[in-house]
Amino acid sequence: MQNNKLLFGSTIGIIGGGQLGRMMTTVAKHMGYRVMVLDPTPDCPTAQVADEQIVAAYDDLDAVRELAEKSDVVTYEFENVDLTAAQILEDAGILPQGANSLRVTQDRELEKKAMVDSNQPVADFAIVTSTEELQIAVEEIGYPSVAKTCRGGYDGKGQVKLTNKTDIESAVEMLQQADRLIIEKWVPFDKEISIVFTRSQSGEISYFPVAENIHRDHILHATIAPARVSEQIAEKARQAAKAIAETIGVVGTFAIEMFVCGEDILINELAPRPHNSGHFTIEACDVSQFEQHVRAICGLPLIPVHSHGGAVMVNLLGKDVEPFFSQLDDNPQAHIHMYGKAENKPLRKMGHVTFIGDNPLIIYNKLVEKKIIEN
Ligand SMILES: Nc1ncnc2c1ncn2[C@@H]1O[C@H](COP(=O)(O)OP(=O)(O)O)[C@@H](O)[C@H]1O
Ligand SMILES: [Mg+2]
Repeated sequence: MQNNKLLFGSTIGIIGGGQLGRMMTTVAKHMGYRVMVLDPTPDCPTAQVADEQIVAAYDDLDAVRELAEKSDVVTYEFENVDLTAAQILEDAGILPQGANSLRVTQDRELEKKAMVDSNQPVADFAIVTSTEELQIAVEEIGYPSVAKTCRGGYDGKGQVKLTNKTDIESAVEMLQQADRLIIEKWVPFDKEISIVFTRSQSGEISYFPVAENIHRDHILHATIAPARVSEQIAEKARQAAKAIAETIGVVGTFAIEMFVCGEDILINELAPRPHNSGHFTIEACDVSQFEQHVRAICGLPLIPVHSHGGAVMVNLLGKDVEPFFSQLDDNPQAHIHMYGKAENKPLRKMGHVTFIGDNPLIIYNKLVEKKIIEN
């Protein structure tokens, strides 16, 4: 991959038109780039702020070729990009992130292998392809454990927790729909954290503050940054990020989810793109995860990350939108991000709000008191 700088006036193509593409686009626009988005839904969140949209399926190879022709560089906002399309773009020299980050993160088996190859700790696991293998794996790993489809799961979809023998039936059902499952030991974690970082085309890494994540119904509810963890844990998270990024050959903004158990971490999941738990960087840091991503893929130097203080980010799902905006006057500090989605569904991510202050714990406690954060 050449490392010529792409400057203002160049065109960035984005595969996927959701909120991550939208936030990449707003920053790319203020830096002077043109943005072309490929997404099947006309007027999708990204298209509302981009210069142009190609309305087509993500795996429509003619549309991908058109995007390639019209763009100087291409990126994506989700991991389930068609691998043939990604390879076409990589071969054309316009996908600096490469197809490998996608290949690995699309499949929990390859993802775990990358973690292990990087000498990073993970929960006990086994890959199973038949009912017999499934039963043996659960016996060996023990209860509680969790079965996940190797491909296609998100926000807790494609997962069943196994607490006793009868739960195995649901896992068998899931296996019938998928060719492989991963069985993982259930981790009694103290907290969940993530590290979002950006790697340049020459291999330089800049890290954002480690974030602490609170999930509700398997969906990210709130992020506290910096995470309430020791400096030792934060350093382990950065070292894990570096090792995994080098194994995979990451370019651009990337996120790693981890469990914290005492003074140890276990790596949970990888995302080859900006991440919901990194949205706080927009207001809390001198460069956001999106701006740093655009800089990396365009071959610009990364900005050294400095944090202005603590932050709490709260997702607004469909059900949260009306309650939040009805008490907006009581929350003048809330930075508002709404994604422009046409239809409000109770569990759909419609937007997020970020609160900045010296002490994130004080902010957090106030938000719990006001019921903006569910306890
Ligand atoms: N092995 C595990 N032990 C404990 N909790 C888990 C485990 N795997 C997943 N979880 C919980 O489920 C959430 C979603 O799982 P994850 O593997 O991150 O998949 P996805 O985010 O794609 O739905 C995690 O953030 C965590 O709260
Ligand atoms: Mg996850």
